[in-house]
Amino acid sequence: MVLNADVTQGKINKNIYGHFAEHLGRCIYEGFWVGEDSEIPNTNGIRNDVVEALRNIDIPVLRWPGGCFADEYHWQDGIGPRENRKRMVNTHWGGVIENNHFGTHEFFMLCEMLGTEPYVNGNVGSGTVQEMSEWVEYMTFDGESPMSNLRKENGQEDAWKLKYFGVGNENWGCGGNMRPQYYADLYRRFQTYVRNYGDNKIFRIAGGANVDDYNWTEVLMREAAPFMDGLSLHYYTIPGDFWLGKGSATNFPEEEWDITIGRAYHIKELIEKHGAIMDKYDPEKRIGMIIDEWGTWYDVEEGTNPGFLYQQNTIRDALVAAVSLNIFNDHSDRVQMANIAQTINVLQSMILTDKEKMILTPTYHVFEMYKVHQDAEKLALHVDTNVVKMGEKEMSQVTASASKAADGKVNITLVNVSKDEDAEFTLDVRGLDISTIKGRVLTAGELDAHNTFENPENVKPEEFTSFQDSDGELAVKMPSKSVVLLTIE
Ligand code: AHR
Repeated sequence: MVLNADVTQGKINKNIYGHFAEHLGRCIYEGFWVGEDSEIPNTNGIRNDVVEALRNIDIPVLRWPGGCFADEYHWQDGIGPRENRKRMVNTHWGGVIENNHFGTHEFFMLCEMLGTEPYVNGNVGSGTVQEMSEWVEYMTFDGESPMSNLRKENGQEDAWKLKYFGVGNENWGCGGNMRPQYYADLYRRFQTYVRNYGDNKIFRIAGGANVDDYNWTEVLMREAAPFMDGLSLHYYTIPGDFWLGKGSATNFPEEEWDITIGRAYHIKELIEKHGAIMDKYDPEKRIGMIIDEWGTWYDVEEGTNPGFLYQQNTIRDALVAAVSLNIFNDHSDRVQMANIAQTINVLQSMILTDKEKMILTPTYHVFEMYKVHQDAEKLALHVDTNVVKMGEKEMSQVTASASKAADGKVNITLVNVSKDEDAEFTLDVRGLDISTIKGRVLTAGELDAHNTFENPENVKPEEFTSFQDSDGELAVKMPSKSVVLLTIE
């Protein structure tokens, strides 16, 4: 590898390290929200342990309330005194009662506690233009108006600042089963009434394609590009088949390691192909590709509600995260945001809870190690290592990304995707006088190593010293299935 530490290639948008929290299973309820009367230590109903853990990974942006839930959510059900809020059925996710105790006010309070930018996803599928328009007015209008007055009656005097707003979710599927032509027109119509009040300028995100539906991107860009700031893309890494069996999070055959990593790597091709269509209509790259759902999706853990999508998280997930984040960094000229699904207790989570207990997953540790890339300057890094076959894909055995942070430190994140081979290579650092190098590594012996409530620190980052510097040429030896962060000063 050759790193040109004096050649910068633009900023890595910190929002690439974004997250997603849906009213699904135990993500919002129990994960974030326990209510003020809970015995679980909380501040105004929100768990203290979770807030503290998430603050440590510097969440830049949080998407809410869905997902599929967004296109069934009627925001007025979730405001006012909690005891009066409507109880509804969460038809998408387990058919359980949604008591609407976590609504708009609670979401903004959570974002404030986390120090994160809110990203609200509106309802196109079952909502109206008026409903969406009034939600934006409720949240962001400061003057005298019916919605602004209602917000004040509900205890929030000042309008909130809201930048990111999604106009529908997966409108090709759970968000209304629409064809792209139809959604493009609806998008144009709905977004017209998503107003910028005062100096609150909204970044409008159109619902984008599923996986490789390039026609969706083509039609949306052709028909609606001038009306959008971002276009979403959803892609999940599934080792098996979505309908016939996705595979287990922990109990998987060895060959599923390669298949999973290869399928995670597939997002590179998707970004490049959707990106090429976007380039045709937006060569200046004004419109952000917003990968607002990504991550691993397995069969639910045995004995859990199939509609809750609860899955464990292993070193394999950590590698999926690390490989994906390196790819997003590398395409940061187009990828302006990504939101891993989903923060707590659902799919590829950062945190798992069991009532008052909480554990951090291997994926959490990757986000903690990689936070140094947020808003840092991407550096030119040339990677030429072994090419390996990972399931259906060929890829470099070691993937990498490098950036220079505001404090001048150079950070390189490296992933050795092999399940059983170490990776030995040289990293030639040019354009930088090295005084110190520090390393951290996340790795494990077993392919399915993970943290449990009984053994919460089984997988966690350790110091990494397996490198030798000889005049700026580092000889690095990475263990199999590992993620390394090198920080050079
Ligand atoms: O993240 C789970 C679901 O996956 C989301 O609700 C939906 O948008 C996607 O299909």
